[in-house]
Amino acid sequence: MPTPAPQHAVFSLPRSSAATVPQAPPGKIEFFHTHIAPHASERVAQVLHSTWVGEGPVVRHFEQELARWGLAHPVAVNSCTAALHLSLLAAGVGPGDEVILPPQTFIATGMAVLAAGARPVFADIDPRTANLDPDDLPRRITPRTRAVIVVHWGGLPARLDRIAQVAREHNLVVIEDAAHAFGARYHGRPIGSISPFTCFSFQAIKHFTCGDGGVVCCPDPELAAAVRRRRWFGIDRENVRRNRYGGRELAVSEPGLKYHMNDIAAAVGLANLEAFAPRLKRRQQIGQWYRQQLASVPGVELLHLPPECQHAYWLFPLLVEDRDGFVEKLAQHGIPTSMVDTRIDTNPVFGQTPQQREQLQGQARFEARQIHIPLHDALSDEQVEYILRVIASGW
Ligand SMILES: Cc1ncc(COP(=O)(O)O)c(C=O)c1O
Repeated sequence: MPTPAPQHAVFSLPRSSAATVPQAPPGKIEFFHTHIAPHASERVAQVLHSTWVGEGPVVRHFEQELARWGLAHPVAVNSCTAALHLSLLAAGVGPGDEVILPPQTFIATGMAVLAAGARPVFADIDPRTANLDPDDLPRRITPRTRAVIVVHWGGLPARLDRIAQVAREHNLVVIEDAAHAFGARYHGRPIGSISPFTCFSFQAIKHFTCGDGGVVCCPDPELAAAVRRRRWFGIDRENVRRNRYGGRELAVSEPGLKYHMNDIAAAVGLANLEAFAPRLKRRQQIGQWYRQQLASVPGVELLHLPPECQHAYWLFPLLVEDRDGFVEKLAQHGIPTSMVDTRIDTNPVFGQTPQQREQLQGQARFEARQIHIPLHDALSDEQVEYILRVIASGW
């Protein structure tokens, strides 16, 4: 289980540091860092030597370990996009339905809605958190709305209490897109144990990776079973019967897909999971350190971190004045920055009009000033201190 982030920063910016930029510490500062546990290669080699490289015992073992981590009835799949698509199907979403989602996400969230045959409807975000604004949600609901997808941008949990309340009032299914939020908690509960469906991404640059992969979590075991069947063509793999010639006797009654995880990816996941708790703690420590030190830097606005949220810190977003100057200054000092993803409702595939986009003022305010600075557990204390000093020196 993850431990709470430490209360004290490791370092404080001396008051006089505002004008001075120190020497760059050794080592390139990466924006993303992919961690593969050293013993992952051993686990993968075992799978390869076994020659059972499809979905098998290692996927089951991985799911058991994810359950021990606090996720509800985890069903391992080959991506978060697949996890979202399966969740929508298991929730009964289909053609003619509308699904509400925020524009501040990766395009995969919207693509999953299209894959289910439904129409994406965009709701505004709160620019102070980059997450769905529960107050805007009711405005987007119509008689066709079936579900709402909530994204935890960067790993910061959205306001799930309020969103669940609106969803209850309007009979909507809540699906969490927790692609960024593995390890996050809300009111002390792990993300992945709260809403009817939660989808994680274990894609290559996430803070917890299998190379590619994902998982759907459902507190209701029947929903988890529905997702499990659909991840492999609608076939109940555990209980499938064979005739005397070895042929499967199928009576599939619902559409399914080929979305299962394989044992090679699960072996990487198992190795990385063993090493995850201290890595998460380190990310949270750096996140807190950034928050403490950047709170008083002119031109920087931190996002709001509600007390009920424990952040997974896949990303560290900031709102800055003169973003061009900020980005250039950091680049001159070897510090990469990124907007990571721009609002997805501008893609013609989602058929939004300029008038519809203009209604989303929170999104526009976030987009105008947002930028992300490096945050990962491979950053040394010296590198974090350097990043802080460069920002504090102004731009
Ligand atoms: C918010 C969000 N949702 C979904 C996805 C899709 O994840 P995957 O690549 O595992 O399908 C991503 C990927 O980066 C993402 O950032």
